[in-house]
Amino acid sequence: MSATQLFEAVDTYINSLFAADDEILSRAVERARKAGLPEIQVSSGQGKLIYLLAKMIGAKRILEIGTLGGYSTVWLGRALPKDGELISVELDAAHAAVARETVKDAGLSEKVEIVEGRGLDEMRALEPSFDLVFLDANKDGYPAYLKQAKRLLRKGGLIVADNVVREGAVLEPSQVDPNAIGAAAFNQALASDPDLEAIVLQQVGIKGHDGLAIARVKD
Ligand code: DHB
Ligand code: MG
Repeated sequence: MSATQLFEAVDTYINSLFAADDEILSRAVERARKAGLPEIQVSSGQGKLIYLLAKMIGAKRILEIGTLGGYSTVWLGRALPKDGELISVELDAAHAAVARETVKDAGLSEKVEIVEGRGLDEMRALEPSFDLVFLDANKDGYPAYLKQAKRLLRKGGLIVADNVVREGAVLEPSQVDPNAIGAAAFNQALASDPDLEAIVLQQVGIKGHDGLAIARVKD
């Protein structure tokens, strides 16, 4: 077994132990696949992680940038209390339509709003304060999203950002890879921001080799 195969096998083992998809999440994956969406949603284990982070800080208001088909949206929505609210922003109308179906199927329509638009425009139009911002859209936009996330978050709030390692492309980003350039600039900004305490978790498994950034706004 190669190292890659072993990482995938252990990821599958962890996901089946701790984060097996229920019928709603399985239908969400199937719905997105049938609609032809790219299969780049977070894994079930990553979904469980962002769900746990939201619960651990008692998040009541969550903002997601990059809904795709709504798979992570369901995980985050399930972490909310009865009076909680999740706004999820998606640029692509077809993706947003799939996500709305999935949110409805999950019984989360009261708490979750899918907003069609550009991440940065929608963030600029929002008012503080949020407890958690999850970034999972175009990586070249991450540095700008970070500034807005800081404006929108309360003290003690979290920024969680997917895909900030990109198979190591962030080490020396190619000038023709705007996503790697954006992720590297985001990591640099996160690491040097005096208002934040942050770390990047390198991740290997069924989603390949990537990383998840987690940052907390200092009190
Ligand atoms: C890509 C985007 C993602 O959000 C992800 O999780 C994996 C890949 C991409 O654009 O390549
Ligand atoms: Mg992602």
